[in-house]
Amino acid sequence: MPSVDIAGIILAAGKGTRMKSALPKGLFEVCGIPMAELAGRAMREVGIERPIMVIGHGRDQMEETLGDRYMYAVQDEQHGTGHAVQIAAPLLSCHDGPVLVVPGDAPLISGDDLKKLLELHLARNAKCTVATVTVPDATGYGRVLRDSSGNIVSIVEHKDADEVTRRTLCEINTAVYCFDCKTLVGLLPRLGNDNAQREYYLTDLIEMIAKEGEHVEGCLFSDPQSFMGINDRWQLAQAASILRQRVLREHALAGVTIVDPATTYIGLEVEIGEDTTVAPMTSISGLTRIGRDCQIGPSSDINDCDIGDGCLVLMSRLDHSIMKNGAKCGPFAHLRSGAVIGERAKIGNYVEVKKSEFGEKASAAHLAYIGDSTVGAGTNVGAGTITCNYDGFSKNRTEIGANAFIGSNSTLIAPVTIGEGAFIAAGSVINKDVPPNAMAIGRGRQEVKEEWAEQWRQRKKAEKKSTAS
Ligand code: UD1
Ligand code: CA
Repeated sequence: MPSVDIAGIILAAGKGTRMKSALPKGLFEVCGIPMAELAGRAMREVGIERPIMVIGHGRDQMEETLGDRYMYAVQDEQHGTGHAVQIAAPLLSCHDGPVLVVPGDAPLISGDDLKKLLELHLARNAKCTVATVTVPDATGYGRVLRDSSGNIVSIVEHKDADEVTRRTLCEINTAVYCFDCKTLVGLLPRLGNDNAQREYYLTDLIEMIAKEGEHVEGCLFSDPQSFMGINDRWQLAQAASILRQRVLREHALAGVTIVDPATTYIGLEVEIGEDTTVAPMTSISGLTRIGRDCQIGPSSDINDCDIGDGCLVLMSRLDHSIMKNGAKCGPFAHLRSGAVIGERAKIGNYVEVKKSEFGEKASAAHLAYIGDSTVGAGTNVGAGTITCNYDGFSKNRTEIGANAFIGSNSTLIAPVTIGEGAFIAAGSVINKDVPPNAMAIGRGRQEVKEEWAEQWRQRKKAEKKSTAS
């Protein structure tokens, strides 16, 4: 990028009435990121470190969610896009150079689009450069008016346009602009609201600049989709679908096999290594990082996880968890917050793990709940094992050493420690610590009564006969 200082304004004060929601429109997520933040990211990609965010509806929630990566300008009442930029203008006071303005509800605009706009703006030495597209149906949009030599002379809003303009002009204003700061700040106070909507239109600046004999440049983009604005939740779903395809394509081209793009959901911040396969009906979100040579899915849901190389995740749900190299999980496993599965360790069918660490090659292959525990390397946790970590008041820990054997259907009542190499007999209820290499058995002793069953059947048959006769 050119080494000029660039400022940015994101317009996100509007209510978004058609979203029919208590959530401000800019906070609706597309591929896991709020729309207003996506605008901010595109700006950061062109070197604008701290864009100005114009907020109004849901301003507290907006600030809280978006954080201090923005300067905020509060527009209490929304009197139009021009009014919104007027409110932002004081924050531009010490800026000298280009100012990018983008709407906060156009989540498909990329950093590359803004770069292209900015480069053209600088190359042509324009006072304003407008990003435009041509669309087959321009209803509702501002139309770009050019003179006979093709220079932009004004933008007319749909509601203010005459029939001929409405019908014949299909080049529209995307509401993405690059202004020269001095020109912008100088002209803003002159905006009026004498129009169909009684609003201060940012678009009126175009005519003002042109009338002063200054140059307005048009940057015609070939893909109208990239500038689509979101007004309702159906458009939101469509934008999400487009962005999702972009993300999937990027992973595919970087060496990840995406078996079925139609049913694969990968968040914008997810990282995946080469030769990993993502099988159908899988969602990978948040700050998830997945290594190389993994098999992920089908039918898995992974959020904020760190998964090493050569791992297997099959029909499972994983949240805020770690799987180290070669670990396996599923089918139907649930790794809840704080699960750490060691190298080549295995978590199998219907096993739930929470806030627990499994050492290298440890295994819980079937039907278990392991919570607030440490399971040492090489330890085998039998089917049906339950750590009773909660006594109704607090969570208690279960510590199991390395190479231990926990027999099936054991109940481990925490807090409890089971030493290295210890052996727990199947079906035990363990509420006392077990020393290393010991065997613990905690269950009723088995009694065998020879011939009892046969005698019982004979007696029953005889009883039945006597009542029948
Ligand atoms: C605007 C343009 C129109 C363009 C269209 C592209 C104007 C006058 N018109 O129209 O030429 O074709 O975008 O989608 O600019 N906002 C505020 N404060 C306000 C008003 C709006 O922050 O007082 C924000 C909204 O939250 C939204 C953005 O500005 O993110 C655009 O506003 P919107 O009302 O959607 O403008 P359009 O009527 O679509
Ligand atoms: Ca709009």
